[in-house]
Amino acid sequence: MSEHRRNDRFSSFGFIMSAIGSAVGLGNMWKFPYVTGTYGGAAFFLLFMVCLLLVGLPVLLAELAVGRGGRGNAASSLTKISGNKGWGALGFLSVAGSFFIMSFYGVVAGWTLHYALLSFTGKLFRTSDYTGLFSNFMNSLTPIGWQLVVMLVTALVLIRGVSEGIERFNKFIIPALVVLLLLLAFHALSLEGAMEGVSFFLKPDFSKLTAESALVALGQAFFSMSLGMGTMVTYGAYVQKSQSLGAATLSVGVGNALYALLAGLIIFPTIFVFGIAPTEGPGLIFVALPAAFSAMPWGAFFGGLFFVLLAFAAITSAVSILEVPVAYASERFGWNRPTTVVTVSLLCFIAGVPSALSLGIGSSVLELGGKSLFDWIDFVCSNIVLPVSGLVITLFAGYAWKGAAAEAGLTAFWIKIWLFMLRFVAPLLVLLVLLYYAGVIRI
Ligand code: PHE
Repeated sequence: MSEHRRNDRFSSFGFIMSAIGSAVGLGNMWKFPYVTGTYGGAAFFLLFMVCLLLVGLPVLLAELAVGRGGRGNAASSLTKISGNKGWGALGFLSVAGSFFIMSFYGVVAGWTLHYALLSFTGKLFRTSDYTGLFSNFMNSLTPIGWQLVVMLVTALVLIRGVSEGIERFNKFIIPALVVLLLLLAFHALSLEGAMEGVSFFLKPDFSKLTAESALVALGQAFFSMSLGMGTMVTYGAYVQKSQSLGAATLSVGVGNALYALLAGLIIFPTIFVFGIAPTEGPGLIFVALPAAFSAMPWGAFFGGLFFVLLAFAAITSAVSILEVPVAYASERFGWNRPTTVVTVSLLCFIAGVPSALSLGIGSSVLELGGKSLFDWIDFVCSNIVLPVSGLVITLFAGYAWKGAAAEAGLTAFWIKIWLFMLRFVAPLLVLLVLLYYAGVIRI
Protein backbone atom coordinates (compact mmCIF):
# COMPACT_ATOMS: atom_id res chain seq x y z
CA MET A 1 0.00 0.00 0.00
CA SER A 2 1.45 3.38 -0.91
CA GLU A 3 2.24 5.94 1.76
CA HIS A 4 -0.55 8.15 0.52
CA ARG A 5 -3.21 5.44 0.90
CA ARG A 6 -1.94 4.34 4.25
CA ASN A 7 -2.73 7.70 5.79
CA ASP A 8 -5.89 8.42 3.89
CA ARG A 9 -8.50 7.88 6.59
CA PHE A 10 -12.12 8.76 7.30
CA SER A 11 -13.08 11.27 9.95
CA SER A 12 -15.48 9.86 12.49
CA PHE A 13 -18.59 11.56 11.07
CA GLY A 14 -17.41 11.05 7.51
CA PHE A 15 -17.14 7.34 8.10
CA ILE A 16 -20.69 7.05 9.50
CA MET A 17 -22.04 8.98 6.51
CA SER A 18 -20.07 6.86 4.05
CA ALA A 19 -21.11 3.58 5.65
CA ILE A 20 -24.76 4.68 5.66
CA GLY A 21 -24.28 5.80 2.07
CA SER A 22 -23.08 2.32 1.22
CA ALA A 23 -25.92 0.56 3.01
CA VAL A 24 -28.69 2.80 1.74
CA GLY A 25 -29.16 2.20 -1.95
CA LEU A 26 -31.11 0.40 -4.60
CA GLY A 27 -31.54 -2.40 -2.09
CA ASN A 28 -33.74 -0.19 0.10
CA MET A 29 -35.79 1.42 -2.61
CA TRP A 30 -35.81 -0.84 -5.63
CA LYS A 31 -35.40 -4.36 -4.25
CA PHE A 32 -36.93 -4.00 -0.81
CA PRO A 33 -40.42 -2.86 -1.89
CA TYR A 34 -40.99 -5.61 -4.43
CA VAL A 35 -39.49 -8.26 -2.22
CA THR A 36 -41.68 -7.10 0.68
CA GLY A 37 -44.68 -7.01 -1.64
CA THR A 38 -44.03 -10.54 -2.85
CA TYR A 39 -43.07 -12.27 0.38
CA GLY A 40 -45.70 -11.14 2.86
CA GLY A 41 -45.85 -7.37 3.40
CA ALA A 42 -45.62 -6.27 7.04
CA ALA A 43 -44.86 -9.75 8.33
CA PHE A 44 -41.90 -9.86 5.97
CA PHE A 45 -40.76 -6.43 7.10
CA LEU A 46 -40.72 -7.69 10.68
CA LEU A 47 -38.66 -10.71 9.71
CA PHE A 48 -36.27 -8.45 7.84
CA MET A 49 -35.80 -6.37 11.01
CA VAL A 50 -35.13 -9.51 13.07
CA CYS A 51 -32.51 -10.61 10.53
CA LEU A 52 -30.88 -7.19 10.66
CA LEU A 53 -30.66 -7.44 14.42
CA LEU A 54 -29.52 -11.05 14.78
CA VAL A 55 -27.23 -11.32 11.79
CA GLY A 56 -26.80 -7.94 10.12
CA LEU A 57 -25.41 -6.04 13.10
CA PRO A 58 -22.99 -8.73 14.35
CA VAL A 59 -21.63 -9.38 10.85
CA LEU A 60 -21.27 -5.66 10.15
CA LEU A 61 -19.21 -5.23 13.31
CA ALA A 62 -17.11 -8.25 12.36
CA GLU A 63 -16.38 -6.85 8.90
CA LEU A 64 -15.39 -3.44 10.26
CA ALA A 65 -13.14 -5.03 12.87
CA VAL A 66 -11.44 -7.25 10.28
CA GLY A 67 -10.81 -4.23 8.05
CA ARG A 68 -9.40 -2.07 10.81
CA GLY A 69 -7.46 -4.94 12.36
CA GLY A 70 -5.84 -5.94 9.06
CA ARG A 71 -5.59 -2.53 7.39
CA GLY A 72 -5.56 -4.17 3.99
CA ASN A 73 -8.15 -4.89 1.33
CA ALA A 74 -11.05 -7.33 1.56
CA ALA A 75 -8.69 -10.24 0.87
CA SER A 76 -5.35 -9.18 2.36
CA SER A 77 -6.84 -8.01 5.68
CA LEU A 78 -7.68 -11.62 6.48
CA THR A 79 -4.19 -12.79 5.53
CA LYS A 80 -2.51 -10.01 7.51
CA ILE A 81 -4.43 -10.85 10.66
CA SER A 82 -4.14 -14.62 10.47
CA GLY A 83 -0.82 -15.01 8.68
CA ASN A 84 -2.62 -17.57 6.54
CA LYS A 85 -3.04 -17.05 2.80
CA GLY A 86 -5.99 -19.46 2.71
CA TRP A 87 -8.18 -16.93 4.51
CA GLY A 88 -7.10 -14.27 2.04
CA ALA A 89 -8.12 -16.53 -0.82
CA LEU A 90 -11.56 -16.91 0.75
CA GLY A 91 -11.71 -13.15 1.16
CA PHE A 92 -10.96 -12.78 -2.54
CA LEU A 93 -14.38 -14.22 -3.27
CA SER A 94 -15.94 -11.00 -2.00
CA VAL A 95 -13.61 -8.93 -4.19
CA ALA A 96 -14.76 -10.82 -7.27
CA GLY A 97 -18.35 -10.63 -6.05
CA SER A 98 -18.26 -6.88 -5.62
CA PHE A 99 -16.85 -6.45 -9.12
CA PHE A 100 -19.77 -8.39 -10.59
CA ILE A 101 -22.38 -6.80 -8.32
CA MET A 102 -21.12 -3.43 -9.51
CA SER A 103 -21.39 -4.49 -13.14
CA PHE A 104 -25.18 -4.78 -12.89
CA TYR A 105 -25.70 -2.31 -10.05
CA GLY A 106 -24.33 0.38 -12.37
CA VAL A 107 -26.91 -0.64 -14.97
CA VAL A 108 -29.88 -0.23 -12.61
CA ALA A 109 -28.45 3.00 -11.19
CA GLY A 110 -28.38 4.23 -14.78
CA TRP A 111 -32.10 3.47 -15.21
CA THR A 112 -32.90 5.71 -12.26
CA LEU A 113 -31.01 8.61 -13.84
CA HIS A 114 -32.92 8.10 -17.07
CA TYR A 115 -36.24 8.07 -15.24
CA ALA A 116 -35.33 11.18 -13.24
CA LEU A 117 -34.71 13.04 -16.47
CA LEU A 118 -37.88 11.69 -18.10
CA SER A 119 -39.89 12.78 -15.10
CA PHE A 120 -38.51 16.30 -14.77
CA THR A 121 -38.92 16.96 -18.47
CA GLY A 122 -42.50 15.66 -18.33
CA LYS A 123 -41.82 13.05 -21.01
CA LEU A 124 -42.63 10.32 -18.54
CA PHE A 125 -46.24 11.43 -18.50
CA ARG A 126 -46.92 11.50 -22.21
CA THR A 127 -47.85 7.85 -22.14
CA SER A 128 -50.02 5.61 -20.03
CA ASP A 129 -48.29 2.40 -21.06
CA TYR A 130 -45.49 2.19 -18.54
CA THR A 131 -44.73 -1.43 -19.21
CA GLY A 132 -44.22 -0.56 -22.87
CA LEU A 133 -42.10 2.47 -22.00
CA PHE A 134 -39.85 0.40 -19.76
CA SER A 135 -39.46 -2.38 -22.30
CA ASN A 136 -38.73 0.07 -25.14
CA PHE A 137 -36.06 1.61 -22.95
CA MET A 138 -34.64 -1.85 -22.22
CA ASN A 139 -34.63 -2.65 -25.93
CA SER A 140 -32.50 0.35 -26.81
CA LEU A 141 -28.86 1.20 -26.25
CA THR A 142 -29.77 4.07 -23.91
CA PRO A 143 -29.29 2.01 -20.70
CA ILE A 144 -25.65 1.54 -21.66
CA GLY A 145 -25.17 5.27 -22.05
CA TRP A 146 -26.57 5.83 -18.56
CA GLN A 147 -24.50 3.01 -17.14
CA LEU A 148 -21.45 4.81 -18.51
CA VAL A 149 -22.53 8.01 -16.76
CA VAL A 150 -22.85 6.14 -13.45
CA MET A 151 -19.41 4.58 -13.85
CA LEU A 152 -17.90 7.96 -14.67
CA VAL A 153 -19.39 9.70 -11.62
CA THR A 154 -18.35 6.81 -9.38
CA ALA A 155 -14.82 6.89 -10.78
CA LEU A 156 -14.59 10.66 -10.32
CA VAL A 157 -15.42 10.28 -6.63
CA LEU A 158 -13.04 7.37 -6.09
CA ILE A 159 -10.12 8.94 -7.88
CA ARG A 160 -9.87 11.58 -5.17
CA GLY A 161 -9.32 9.00 -2.49
CA VAL A 162 -10.96 8.31 0.84
CA SER A 163 -11.21 11.61 2.71
CA GLU A 164 -11.26 13.94 -0.30
CA GLY A 165 -13.43 11.70 -2.45
CA ILE A 166 -15.60 9.12 -0.71
CA GLU A 167 -16.07 11.01 2.55
CA ARG A 168 -16.73 14.41 1.00
CA PHE A 169 -19.26 13.06 -1.45
CA ASN A 170 -21.20 11.17 1.22
CA LYS A 171 -21.14 14.03 3.73
CA PHE A 172 -22.86 16.15 1.15
CA ILE A 173 -25.27 13.60 -0.34
CA ILE A 174 -26.59 11.75 2.73
CA PRO A 175 -28.08 14.77 4.55
CA ALA A 176 -29.63 15.87 1.24
CA LEU A 177 -31.17 12.41 0.85
CA VAL A 178 -32.72 12.60 4.30
CA VAL A 179 -34.43 15.87 3.42
CA LEU A 180 -35.73 14.46 0.12
CA LEU A 181 -36.89 11.29 1.78
CA LEU A 182 -38.84 13.10 4.48
CA LEU A 183 -40.43 15.39 1.94
CA LEU A 184 -41.55 12.48 -0.21
CA ALA A 185 -42.80 10.48 2.78
CA PHE A 186 -44.92 13.39 4.06
CA HIS A 187 -46.33 13.83 0.63
CA ALA A 188 -47.11 10.15 0.11
CA LEU A 189 -48.78 9.86 3.50
CA SER A 190 -50.96 12.86 2.79
CA LEU A 191 -52.48 11.23 -0.30
CA GLU A 192 -56.09 10.22 0.17
CA GLY A 193 -56.31 6.51 0.85
CA ALA A 194 -52.66 6.25 1.85
CA MET A 195 -53.48 4.27 4.97
CA GLU A 196 -54.28 1.12 3.04
CA GLY A 197 -50.69 1.04 1.82
CA VAL A 198 -49.39 1.80 5.28
CA SER A 199 -51.30 -1.07 6.79
CA PHE A 200 -50.11 -3.49 4.10
CA PHE A 201 -46.60 -2.44 4.98
CA LEU A 202 -46.87 -2.21 8.76
CA LYS A 203 -49.73 -4.49 9.91
CA PRO A 204 -48.35 -7.99 9.94
CA ASP A 205 -50.42 -10.92 8.77
CA PHE A 206 -48.31 -13.94 9.61
CA SER A 207 -50.40 -16.27 7.52
CA LYS A 208 -48.78 -14.64 4.51
CA LEU A 209 -45.33 -15.83 5.50
CA THR A 210 -43.71 -18.85 3.95
CA ALA A 211 -40.43 -20.50 4.93
CA GLU A 212 -38.98 -18.95 1.82
CA SER A 213 -39.83 -15.50 3.19
CA ALA A 214 -37.40 -16.04 6.05
CA LEU A 215 -34.57 -16.91 3.72
CA VAL A 216 -35.26 -14.03 1.42
CA ALA A 217 -35.42 -11.72 4.44
CA LEU A 218 -31.95 -12.82 5.50
CA GLY A 219 -30.54 -12.36 2.01
CA GLN A 220 -32.13 -8.96 1.84
CA ALA A 221 -30.63 -8.03 5.23
CA PHE A 222 -27.19 -8.90 3.89
CA PHE A 223 -27.61 -7.01 0.66
CA SER A 224 -29.11 -4.01 2.36
CA MET A 225 -26.35 -3.73 4.96
CA SER A 226 -23.67 -4.15 2.24
CA LEU A 227 -22.41 -7.31 3.88
CA GLY A 228 -20.53 -10.21 2.33
CA MET A 229 -19.11 -8.07 -0.45
CA GLY A 230 -15.96 -6.90 1.26
CA THR A 231 -17.33 -3.36 1.32
CA MET A 232 -17.36 -2.94 5.07
CA VAL A 233 -13.98 -4.68 5.41
CA THR A 234 -12.55 -2.24 2.88
CA TYR A 235 -14.15 0.80 4.55
CA GLY A 236 -13.11 -0.56 7.96
CA ALA A 237 -9.47 -0.32 6.90
CA TYR A 238 -9.88 3.47 6.62
CA VAL A 239 -11.39 3.92 10.09
CA GLN A 240 -9.27 5.52 12.78
CA LYS A 241 -8.28 3.59 15.85
CA SER A 242 -10.06 6.06 18.13
CA GLN A 243 -13.48 5.47 16.57
CA SER A 244 -15.94 3.21 18.38
CA LEU A 245 -16.88 0.41 16.01
CA GLY A 246 -19.83 -0.61 18.19
CA ALA A 247 -21.37 2.84 18.00
CA ALA A 248 -20.71 3.01 14.26
CA THR A 249 -22.38 -0.37 13.73
CA LEU A 250 -25.44 0.77 15.63
CA SER A 251 -25.69 4.06 13.72
CA VAL A 252 -25.43 2.34 10.37
CA GLY A 253 -27.95 -0.34 11.37
CA VAL A 254 -30.48 2.16 12.66
CA GLY A 255 -29.90 4.54 9.75
CA ASN A 256 -30.41 1.79 7.21
CA ALA A 257 -33.53 0.39 8.91
CA LEU A 258 -35.08 3.87 9.17
CA TYR A 259 -34.36 4.48 5.54
CA ALA A 260 -36.04 1.21 4.53
CA LEU A 261 -39.01 2.15 6.71
CA LEU A 262 -39.37 5.58 5.14
CA ALA A 263 -38.90 4.18 1.65
CA GLY A 264 -41.74 1.74 2.33
CA LEU A 265 -43.89 4.62 3.61
CA ILE A 266 -43.35 6.39 0.31
CA ILE A 267 -43.80 3.47 -2.05
CA PHE A 268 -46.69 1.45 -0.60
CA PRO A 269 -49.13 4.33 -0.02
CA THR A 270 -48.33 5.69 -3.48
CA ILE A 271 -49.03 2.47 -5.32
CA PHE A 272 -52.06 1.51 -3.21
CA VAL A 273 -53.70 4.86 -3.75
CA PHE A 274 -53.50 4.28 -7.45
CA GLY A 275 -54.67 0.69 -7.25
CA ILE A 276 -51.47 -1.07 -8.27
CA ALA A 277 -50.42 -4.46 -6.89
CA PRO A 278 -47.17 -4.40 -4.93
CA THR A 279 -46.01 -7.72 -6.34
CA GLU A 280 -44.81 -6.46 -9.70
CA GLY A 281 -41.20 -7.67 -9.38
CA PRO A 282 -38.08 -5.76 -10.41
CA GLY A 283 -40.07 -3.40 -12.63
CA LEU A 284 -42.19 -2.22 -9.68
CA ILE A 285 -40.69 1.18 -9.23
CA PHE A 286 -40.14 1.77 -12.93
CA VAL A 287 -43.60 0.67 -14.02
CA ALA A 288 -45.96 1.09 -11.08
CA LEU A 289 -44.59 4.28 -9.62
CA PRO A 290 -44.58 6.36 -12.83
CA ALA A 291 -48.24 5.39 -13.30
CA ALA A 292 -48.93 6.61 -9.79
CA PHE A 293 -46.97 9.82 -10.19
CA SER A 294 -48.68 10.59 -13.48
CA ALA A 295 -52.04 10.56 -11.74
CA MET A 296 -51.13 12.86 -8.88
CA PRO A 297 -50.89 16.64 -8.77
CA TRP A 298 -47.28 17.81 -9.10
CA GLY A 299 -46.45 14.29 -10.25
CA ALA A 300 -43.59 15.37 -12.51
CA PHE A 301 -41.94 17.16 -9.64
CA PHE A 302 -42.39 14.44 -7.04
CA GLY A 303 -41.59 11.71 -9.53
CA GLY A 304 -38.42 13.52 -10.56
CA LEU A 305 -37.42 13.98 -6.92
CA PHE A 306 -38.04 10.32 -6.21
CA PHE A 307 -35.80 9.15 -9.01
CA VAL A 308 -33.08 11.65 -8.17
CA LEU A 309 -33.18 10.39 -4.60
CA LEU A 310 -32.82 6.87 -5.88
CA ALA A 311 -29.99 7.76 -8.22
CA PHE A 312 -27.94 9.43 -5.50
CA ALA A 313 -28.59 6.66 -3.01
CA ALA A 314 -27.41 4.24 -5.69
CA ILE A 315 -24.24 6.17 -6.48
CA THR A 316 -23.13 6.40 -2.83
CA SER A 317 -23.47 2.59 -2.74
CA ALA A 318 -21.75 2.18 -6.10
CA VAL A 319 -18.79 4.14 -4.74
CA SER A 320 -18.43 1.66 -1.88
CA ILE A 321 -18.83 -1.40 -4.09
CA LEU A 322 -16.23 -0.30 -6.62
CA GLU A 323 -13.77 0.67 -3.89
CA VAL A 324 -13.45 -3.04 -3.03
CA PRO A 325 -11.76 -4.10 -6.30
CA VAL A 326 -9.98 -0.73 -6.49
CA ALA A 327 -8.37 -1.22 -3.07
CA TYR A 328 -7.54 -4.78 -4.00
CA ALA A 329 -5.95 -4.00 -7.37
CA SER A 330 -3.93 -1.06 -6.13
CA GLU A 331 -2.43 -3.08 -3.30
CA ARG A 332 -1.98 -6.25 -5.32
CA PHE A 333 -0.41 -4.67 -8.39
CA GLY A 334 1.15 -1.62 -6.74
CA TRP A 335 -0.70 0.79 -9.04
CA ASN A 336 -1.42 4.35 -8.03
CA ARG A 337 -4.99 5.39 -7.37
CA PRO A 338 -5.87 7.12 -10.67
CA THR A 339 -4.54 4.22 -12.77
CA THR A 340 -6.39 1.69 -10.62
CA VAL A 341 -9.68 3.58 -10.64
CA VAL A 342 -9.64 4.09 -14.40
CA THR A 343 -8.71 0.47 -15.14
CA VAL A 344 -11.18 -1.11 -12.73
CA SER A 345 -14.06 1.19 -13.73
CA LEU A 346 -13.48 0.52 -17.39
CA LEU A 347 -13.37 -3.24 -16.90
CA CYS A 348 -16.47 -3.11 -14.74
CA PHE A 349 -18.32 -1.03 -17.31
CA ILE A 350 -17.44 -3.57 -20.01
CA ALA A 351 -18.52 -6.44 -17.75
CA GLY A 352 -21.87 -4.73 -17.22
CA VAL A 353 -22.72 -4.25 -20.90
CA PRO A 354 -23.83 -7.86 -21.53
CA SER A 355 -26.01 -7.66 -18.39
CA ALA A 356 -27.65 -4.51 -19.66
CA LEU A 357 -28.17 -6.02 -23.11
CA SER A 358 -29.52 -9.27 -21.70
CA LEU A 359 -32.71 -7.48 -20.67
CA GLY A 360 -33.32 -6.05 -24.12
CA ILE A 361 -31.69 -6.40 -27.51
CA GLY A 362 -29.60 -9.38 -26.46
CA SER A 363 -32.29 -11.20 -24.52
CA SER A 364 -32.48 -14.13 -26.92
CA VAL A 365 -28.76 -14.94 -26.66
CA LEU A 366 -27.79 -13.76 -23.20
CA GLU A 367 -29.96 -16.13 -21.23
CA LEU A 368 -29.75 -19.55 -19.72
CA GLY A 369 -32.66 -21.67 -18.61
CA GLY A 370 -35.12 -18.83 -18.95
CA LYS A 371 -33.10 -16.48 -16.75
CA SER A 372 -31.30 -13.50 -18.27
CA LEU A 373 -27.60 -12.95 -17.69
CA PHE A 374 -28.57 -9.97 -15.55
CA ASP A 375 -30.74 -12.15 -13.31
CA TRP A 376 -28.05 -14.80 -13.13
CA ILE A 377 -25.38 -12.41 -11.93
CA ASP A 378 -27.76 -10.89 -9.40
CA PHE A 379 -28.87 -14.34 -8.25
CA VAL A 380 -25.38 -15.82 -7.90
CA CYS A 381 -23.91 -12.74 -6.22
CA SER A 382 -26.81 -11.94 -3.88
CA ASN A 383 -27.76 -15.46 -2.91
CA ILE A 384 -24.50 -17.36 -3.05
CA VAL A 385 -21.43 -15.10 -2.94
CA LEU A 386 -22.90 -12.77 -0.30
CA PRO A 387 -23.82 -15.50 2.18
CA VAL A 388 -20.64 -17.53 1.56
CA SER A 389 -18.44 -14.49 2.13
CA GLY A 390 -20.58 -13.60 5.14
CA LEU A 391 -19.98 -17.07 6.49
CA VAL A 392 -16.23 -16.69 5.95
CA ILE A 393 -16.22 -13.47 7.97
CA THR A 394 -18.33 -14.83 10.83
CA LEU A 395 -16.18 -17.94 11.15
CA PHE A 396 -13.01 -15.90 10.88
CA ALA A 397 -13.97 -13.35 13.53
CA GLY A 398 -15.85 -15.88 15.66
CA TYR A 399 -13.31 -18.71 15.75
CA ALA A 400 -10.02 -18.02 13.99
CA TRP A 401 -9.12 -14.52 15.15
CA LYS A 402 -8.42 -14.30 18.85
CA GLY A 403 -8.00 -10.53 18.76
CA ALA A 404 -11.46 -9.87 17.32
CA ALA A 405 -13.01 -8.87 20.64
CA ALA A 406 -10.22 -6.42 21.39
CA GLU A 407 -10.53 -4.77 17.97
CA ALA A 408 -14.31 -4.52 18.24
CA GLY A 409 -13.86 -2.78 21.60
CA LEU A 410 -17.21 -3.65 23.16
CA THR A 411 -17.91 -4.03 26.87
CA ALA A 412 -17.58 -7.54 28.30
CA PHE A 413 -21.34 -8.06 28.25
CA TRP A 414 -21.77 -7.14 24.60
CA ILE A 415 -18.69 -9.07 23.56
CA LYS A 416 -20.34 -12.23 24.88
CA ILE A 417 -23.50 -11.58 22.93
CA TRP A 418 -21.58 -10.62 19.80
CA LEU A 419 -19.41 -13.72 19.86
CA PHE A 420 -22.42 -15.93 20.50
CA MET A 421 -24.15 -14.47 17.45
CA LEU A 422 -21.02 -14.80 15.33
CA ARG A 423 -20.23 -18.33 16.39
CA PHE A 424 -23.66 -19.91 16.39
CA VAL A 425 -26.64 -17.86 15.26
CA ALA A 426 -25.28 -16.13 12.16
CA PRO A 427 -23.42 -19.11 10.63
CA LEU A 428 -26.39 -21.39 11.19
CA LEU A 429 -28.87 -19.04 9.58
CA VAL A 430 -26.54 -18.27 6.68
CA LEU A 431 -25.91 -21.97 6.13
CA LEU A 432 -29.65 -22.57 5.95
CA VAL A 433 -29.97 -19.96 3.23
CA LEU A 434 -27.12 -21.48 1.27
CA LEU A 435 -28.41 -25.01 1.49
CA TYR A 436 -31.79 -23.79 0.41
CA TYR A 437 -30.46 -22.05 -2.68
CA ALA A 438 -28.20 -24.98 -3.45
CA GLY A 439 -31.32 -27.10 -3.54
CA VAL A 440 -30.16 -29.33 -0.66
CA ILE A 441 -33.15 -28.41 1.46
CA ARG A 442 -36.62 -27.80 0.12
CA ILE A 443 -39.31 -26.05 2.06
N1 PHE B 1 -26.41 -1.95 0.35
C1 PHE B 1 -26.59 -1.55 -0.99
C2 PHE B 1 -28.05 -1.35 -1.27
O1 PHE B 1 -28.89 -1.55 -0.44
C3 PHE B 1 -26.02 -2.50 -1.99
C4 PHE B 1 -24.69 -3.05 -1.69
C5 PHE B 1 -24.51 -4.40 -1.64
C6 PHE B 1 -23.62 -2.21 -1.46
C7 PHE B 1 -23.29 -4.95 -1.32
C8 PHE B 1 -22.38 -2.75 -1.17
C9 PHE B 1 -22.23 -4.12 -1.09
O2 PHE B 1 -28.41 -0.99 -2.36
